[in-house]
Parts: sequence; structure tokens; C-alpha cells
Amino acid sequence: MINWYDLPAYYDVSFSYEMSDELAFLKNVFKKYSNSSQPKLLEPACGTGRLMIPLIREGFDCSGFDLNRNALLYLEEKLNRNQLHANVFYDDMINFTTHRKYDGIYCTVDTFRHLLTEKEARQHLLGVSKALKKNGIYVLGLHLLSKEKKIDRLTRWTARRGRLTIKTIMSMIKLDKNKRRETLEVELKIKAKERNNSYTSVYQLRTYTLFQLMKILKSLPELEIISVYDEYYDLSNPIMLDSGSDYAVLLLRKK
Ligand SMILES: C[S@@+](CC[C@H](N)C(=O)[O-])C[C@H]1O[C@@H](n2cnc3c(N)ncnc32)[C@H](O)[C@@H]1O
Repeated sequence: MINWYDLPAYYDVSFSYEMSDELAFLKNVFKKYSNSSQPKLLEPACGTGRLMIPLIREGFDCSGFDLNRNALLYLEEKLNRNQLHANVFYDDMINFTTHRKYDGIYCTVDTFRHLLTEKEARQHLLGVSKALKKNGIYVLGLHLLSKEKKIDRLTRWTARRGRLTIKTIMSMIKLDKNKRRETLEVELKIKAKERNNSYTSVYQLRTYTLFQLMKILKSLPELEIISVYDEYYDLSNPIMLDSGSDYAVLLLRKK
């Protein structure tokens, strides 16, 4: 079995599918809440830099780190090829160290849920708080276990780049609400010019109900929630979180 993060050229195509609203949202948030002419941004677990590269092109000063060396190599090659600059390093979301302070930090698409224990998640949030300037913003996007909406156990999409077509099939194969673990299986079906291939990857994410998310955030009063959005990433349309919420994007401000 393969870890799909070890296949950055495929991950990047698959996860870049329909990301324009997410990207526009990040750009607008950091322009709105920073008074710097070139805001400094950090992406913990940046992967292939699918978001970082366009943010650099928008004029942000970007840094990012990940634990996956294949993804970092892919990102560095892409930066070099495009003559772009970013501060990319190997580190862990749980206990990362930075010598800089950032105007903004972002972590969307459930990446935070890779932290499987409360201790790890809290340590990450403490690290974020330390790395933010006063009034800096952390954008955190994750799925909650909704009490009202039926859980989507299967999501599939098809992304294309050049001659590459990737069908991604993501299925929740196990949900243990007591242990707060969701087991996901991702199948990538690759159609390339010379060959077709398929890879399957299985991994776990920590689950959050609204109550569990609020509990951990309340334990870090230096990060205050200033607004929340849903999966449409519409900055003009903040929402109220309730027990029916599923994908939530929180703006947390460092006091
Ligand atoms: C869903 S991908 C997100 C990548 C990127 N942020 C994006 O939005 O495309 C999750 C990433 O988290 C990384 N990751 C998982 N656990 C990590 C940890 N403890 N520290 C740093 N990176 C981690 C994986 O290597 C992978 O690149």
C-alpha cells in the first residue's frame, strides 16, 4: 500500500481541482486583515504547495513546511522551474519552530485532522499562536461531524492537467466516534499518455464535533474566533456554526 502524499505529481493535480474559491478566499483574507505591503504567510503541512505557489504569484511572502520529503522536493523543483522564491523546510505540525512572525497562517482541507491526539492538536495550535504576529490570522478549515447532515462516505472527482487525467475516489471506510478516528481510503486512477495505473492509500484523521472543536479552541484563549465560513469560501457570507455544520473555515485572530 502506498501513501498518496508520496506521489506529489498526482496529489497536486488531484487536489488542485476546483480550488479557485479557496485560493481567492485566502488571498482576500490576508489582504483584508494585514496592513503589511507584503504579508508574511506560513503554511504548516504545505505538501506540494498547490496553494503556496499562486499566493507567491499574488505577492505574498510565503513559507511552508511538511514531513513528506517527496512533496517538499516537488515543491522546490516547481519553485525553481518558475523562478519563484519561498522559504520551504522540513518540520512537524506538532512542534514546528520558526524564527519569523507571520501575518497569516493557513491550514485547510482537513490537514489539521492529521494530528491524531488532543495533545498534538493543542501543541500545534500553541505553535501557531507563537508564530503569529499580534492580530495575525490563522485560517483553519476542517470537516466537523454534523449531527444533522448525512455523512458523505464517498467523494469522487476527476482532475486533468495536460495529458494526465486523475480520478480520485475517497471513501470513509471506518468511523469510530469514541476513539475519534476516521479511516479514509483514497484510490487514484491515473490515465497518462503511455500508461494507466491505480494506487490505493489508507490513513486516519481525528474527528471533531462542534463541541470538541470549541473545547480545544477555548483552551487557547489567545486565539479568538472572529468569523466562520462554509465550504463555499465566500468572505462576504460568514455563517454561524451549529450542530448541522460540516465543513467549517474559521478565522482565528492572535490577541
Ligand atoms: C491533505 S495534504 C495538504 C497539503 C497542502 N496543505 C494542501 O492544502 O494541498 C496533508 C499534508 O499534511 C502533511 N502532514 C501530515 N502530518 C504532518 C505533520 N505532523 N507535520 C507536517 N506535515 C504533515 C502530509 O505530508 C501532507 O502533505
